[in-house]
Parts: sequence; C-alpha cells; structure tokens
Amino acid sequence: MLLEQAAALLQPHVPLEKEALLRRLETPPEPRLGDVAFPCFVLAKQLRRPPAAIAAELADAVAAAHGVRAVAAGGYVNLFFDPAAWLGRIVDAALEPGFGSSDEGRGRHVVIDMSSPNIAKPLGVGHLRSTMIGNALANLYRETGHAVTTVNHLGDWGTQFGKLIVAYRRWGGKSALEADPIGESLQLYVRFHEEAAEHPTLEDEAREAFLRLEQGDEETTALWRFFVQASMNEFERVYARLGVRFDEVLGESFYNDKLAPVLDRLRAQGLLEESDGALVVRLDEEGLPPCLILKKDGATIYPVRDLATAIYRKHVMKADRLLYVVGAEQQLHFKQVFGVLGKMGEPWTGDCEHVPFGLMTVEGKKMSTRRGKVVFLDEVLDEAVRRAREIIAAKSPDLPNADEVAEDVGIGAVVFGDLKNRRQLSVDFKLEEVVSFDGETGPYVQYTHARIASLLRKGGFEPQNGQDGVSAAPLAADEGVDMADAAWVCAKRLTQWSAAVSEVVRDNEPSAVARFLLELARDFNRFYHDGKVIQPDDAAGTQARLRLSAAVGHLLGRGLKLLGIAAPERM
Ligand code: ARG
Repeated sequence: MLLEQAAALLQPHVPLEKEALLRRLETPPEPRLGDVAFPCFVLAKQLRRPPAAIAAELADAVAAAHGVRAVAAGGYVNLFFDPAAWLGRIVDAALEPGFGSSDEGRGRHVVIDMSSPNIAKPLGVGHLRSTMIGNALANLYRETGHAVTTVNHLGDWGTQFGKLIVAYRRWGGKSALEADPIGESLQLYVRFHEEAAEHPTLEDEAREAFLRLEQGDEETTALWRFFVQASMNEFERVYARLGVRFDEVLGESFYNDKLAPVLDRLRAQGLLEESDGALVVRLDEEGLPPCLILKKDGATIYPVRDLATAIYRKHVMKADRLLYVVGAEQQLHFKQVFGVLGKMGEPWTGDCEHVPFGLMTVEGKKMSTRRGKVVFLDEVLDEAVRRAREIIAAKSPDLPNADEVAEDVGIGAVVFGDLKNRRQLSVDFKLEEVVSFDGETGPYVQYTHARIASLLRKGGFEPQNGQDGVSAAPLAADEGVDMADAAWVCAKRLTQWSAAVSEVVRDNEPSAVARFLLELARDFNRFYHDGKVIQPDDAAGTQARLRLSAAVGHLLGRGLKLLGIAAPERM
C-alpha cells in the first residue's frame, strides 16, 4: 500500500514507468530513516547527474507538489507518511479475509513433486524436507491463485522387489511385515544378500520374480501390492502427524506402460547411443555426462521414468509448471532429464524446475524413520513435543488441552526450524533451540499469535466495531510516542506481507514467509511491551490498538497455516 502510494507520488517527477518505479522502491533499514526509499542511482546515467543532486531536487519537488515529508539522504529520497492518515487504512485492509492474496497465478497449473520416498526403505531426512518444503510451496502457490496438484512420486518399482519377494517367500511372514513393514523389509534384504553370497542361484530367482512382476503375474503382483500398502501405512502415519496430504499418489510403477513409447521415440529420433553395452543419450552440447537410459540387462532405470513422468504431467495433467522438490544431490539427474526432454523436441523444458535443498541434521546427526546411524524421526518429534509440554506446564499450568497444544507446538517447532532457513542451506538444528518460546522459532510465532488471541478475548474485541472511523483513532492515546512508533512499525510490516508471499512463489523459497512472521511477531511484541493495549478510560484508543493486534494475529495465524504449522488459540 505504502509502496504504491510512494510510486504514485514520485512518478510525475521521474522518467520511469510506474511498474519500473515500484520495483525499485525499498524499505529503509531503520524506521527513523523513512517509510519508503527511492534510490536515485538508476537515474544518474540517464540524467547525467550525480545521484545525490537528483535526490535533492526530487525530494523538494515531491514535497512541494504533494505536501508529504520527503528527505534526500545521499542518493536516496526517503518518504515519510502520516501514521494518523495511514494506520487505520492499513489495519482495515489487513483485516480483510483475502489480504495480500493475489491472483497472479490464475489459469496456471503447477504440479509439485514432493516427498516421494521409496517403498520398503526408510523415510530419510531428504524426504522429510521435501515433504515440508513442498507442502508450504503448494499452499503458497494456491494463495496466489495457482491451481496446484501435489504428487507423491513413490519409489515403488525396481529389481529390488524381486529380492524382497524371494526373501519374503522363504523367510518372511505377513504379521511381521505388517507390524513393522520397513524394519522387516530391511531385514529381509540383509538376509537375502547374506544367503545369496553363498547360494548365487538366489539372484536368478530374484530376477525371475521381478520378471513375473513385470509381466503382471497375479500372485506376485498381489505380494508387491501388499508391500507397497504396508510401507504406505507407515508413511501415512508420519504424514498425518505433519498434517500433510497429497492430491495424487502416483508411484514410479504408474508409468510402467508409458516407458515403451518414450524409448521408441528416443530410438526413432536417433538419440540412443550404445556405450559399454548400455544405451545412453549424449548431452555433450549441454555440457553434461550422458544420460543412462537402458542398462546392459535391458532394465530401464530412474531417468526414463522421469521422462515419462514429465511428459505425463505436461500433456495429461496439463501442467504449466513442473516443480521437483528433491535434494540437491539429484541436481545432475534433473539436468539430464530436462536436457533429454529438450533433445526430444519438447519445447516446455523451461517449465520444469528442480527445487533443491540442503541436508538437514538434528544435533549433528542425520534423521530417518529407521534407526541406523541416524536419529529416528518419530523420536525427534516426540522429544520436541515432550519439551514443548514442559514449557507449557511451566508457563500455563492451567491450559485445558495441554497435550494437544504440545503436539502442535513440538511439531510446529521442527517444521518451522526447517523452513525458516533458505532451503539450499544445510541446517543442523538443536532441539532446545527450535522448541524455545523465545528467539527465531516456530513456538515464538505461535506464542505471539496465542497471546494476541487472549488479548482480544480479554478486550471483548469484535472486528466490525472498527468501522465508521473508530479505527483511525489515535493509537497511543496518552502513552507518549513510543507506542505510536511501535504501532506504525507493525502496520508498515503488515504492508510487506504480499511481497513475502510473492517472494516464496518467485524463488520457491518458503523461508521468505517464515522470516516475515518472525519480524512481524517481533514488531508486535515491541508494541505490546511498550504500552498497555487495553485502557479502560480510553475506549477509542483501546479499540484501535485491539484492531491492530487483531490484524497482526490474523496474519500470524494465516502465515503459520500456509507453512503447514498449527496456530493454537491458547498456549
Ligand atoms: N524416490 C526418489 C528418492 O528417494 C525421489 C524421487 C523424486 N522425484 C522424482 N520425480 N524423481 O531418491
């Protein structure tokens, strides 16, 4: 709002289109420097004058023409807006249900590949980050008017299922597998490899079993389906805890009948080349190593499935953008897949984007749903919840649904601890830090949100009461300027919400919203501590302050939910 206003004031005086001007505007690092800054450096070349001279003249012109405070500082023009005129308007806008949501993505369909763990293997930390980052992106793309389809691209196919089938038939049991699908599968693999070292014919048996599976043999397929379902049940439990759902679960096996057409095309286009008995597509011009398509034994591999998958998402699902939220270690794989698609003459490879992320560790250890040299995900979540429960017991001993809230806070702490960092960074988090109610944490944002909810209950706040000009009442009443300053800082922060949302979508970077929430919470707490929100002898001021609080609380709750984090009303 303020940026738009600043652009409107400046535009008549500078040789820039309004849009271009708007993009250049900045928020000064410190509130006392001004509310909006325009850097004049861009004009220096065009006008052949030093930026400082341009700034001085522009500041005078704007002040004279519009009666606003405009101050030149170095090469910047800093504009100051009148809080009395703007605060109420900003708060009113922020209380509108659709505040900051846009329809910039209208008519665009984004397909997001996320989570995508492998059946019969542990859910690793990469899958977890993929799940949380993908979920936040899906929510924020929807918030900006995109149509979104989230897809869990399960790794549910491959020769390893031949081994699993053989091992299960020999040494496995239904109840053991159902009780602990992934642990039992891992044990069966281990046993298979041990025994196969002594009886190499087991390997032939496994190949045969996989062949029967590929040919659609009923009994083998039933067994495979049972493995998939058993693992899926375990994954579902984790997803439920994290509050994540998928629009589609289309595993690699879904593309079984879609691979031959891809291979035929590659062959017909003369793209396949032999290399050591295998077939590859060369990607020399792209500066990439060749992409392996068909192995010596004729088995298709991972990249082919991704070729078929991308073609399906584009042509059948009608995706306008294809995002792959997958760890940075698969960077080369996706470059190769997109490169081959380009060679196949698919003109939309620019719509495909690998959204990589770094490694996350907990207290220096990798995390997984299964114990190895790793931390067990459930244990991390349980431990976070236990710590949250302790803090709640100390802070709010009378909270009625404390266990439920502790679950929300503990899990929110882990998710926020992940999302607040730029995704490409590798992060190690310490539970004590992420669960703390102070500092840059999820619980801090949740706590601020709950504090506002309680403030509004205490003040008997009704949003409609603010109409008819009450919202423009002076915020600080007789509290002196500090509280009014803090209120203005809060209100200005509110106006930056839509920029944070746009940044997430522009850079596929959920941390922009997480950071915004931390800043908004911090600004609010300063306002809250600087004075009394509720003052019985100042009804109009109280109402205005509650209204600002409501706008902040509303946005904190909404932002948390967009990140996939619960926002309890009481903590
Ligand atoms: N299942 C793969 C893994 O665990 C991730 C799949 C990512 N998605 C894709 N379309 N390749 O490494």
